[in-house]
Amino acid sequence: MLKTLATLLLAALVLILIGAGVVYSGAVDVAADTPHSAPIRALLETARERSIAVRADDILVPDLSDAELIQSGAGNYDAMCAMCHLAPGVQSTELSNALNPAPPDLTDANRKHEPAHDFWTIKHGIKATGMPAWGQSMDDRYIWGLIALLEQLPALTPMDYQALVAASGGHQHGGGERAMQNHNPAPANTRPHDGERSVEQHHPAQPATPDLHRHADGTDHPH
Ligand code: HEC
Repeated sequence: MLKTLATLLLAALVLILIGAGVVYSGAVDVAADTPHSAPIRALLETARERSIAVRADDILVPDLSDAELIQSGAGNYDAMCAMCHLAPGVQSTELSNALNPAPPDLTDANRKHEPAHDFWTIKHGIKATGMPAWGQSMDDRYIWGLIALLEQLPALTPMDYQALVAASGGHQHGGGERAMQNHNPAPANTRPHDGERSVEQHHPAQPATPDLHRHADGTDHPH
């Protein structure tokens, strides 16, 4: 009995040492532009799905058909999510193309999801992916606004979507983020969007010149 135990412990130690050797040798490729092998991908996806399912179990979902809630999510989605998760009429962006894992297309009507799981994901983020923990800067009610918007997103035309964004009163968090406002300093002659708190000026109402952004190929384009 004792001998079997000692053999098992020794085998475990050898496996750990081999694992450490592989990691230390640099054989693990962390480049975002090389895909994971199928087994690693399956392992990571299962770990993510089970982790979220277990933790999102007791989340109570409010009425997501409330028009005001949907509208409140649109401005935030456009400002903070669309660059990765796309929007009606937007098929790809630099971030949606270059991140690994790729941000899921949240306009896709076939995306399998549950509102409580989406809420948990948005609030807490996902480690070692590009998905931030928005709960650090946004109150729950603003996250529910995003969830309400997500439920409608696949059915919205680009025009419907733009109209909702325009009507939503801009980008608001309501959480602890107020201390670090002004992501994009606005020119002096601009005013906040209607309904946006006066301290918030993320996006100039009328930029004098669009932000130009130079790429390695030498082309400029506005963002
Ligand atoms: C920098 C890019 C980035 C930004 C910005 C971002 N996300 Fe994500 N998000 C991701 C990535 C990458 C994943 C997938 C992670 C994975 O596969 O484990 C993800 C996953 C998700 C998921 C889970 C989707 C599914 O079907 O599994 C939801 C919901 C989500 N994000 C919502 C949002 C919302 C809402 C915002 C804006 C408040 C946002 N994300 C901002 C990159 C981003």
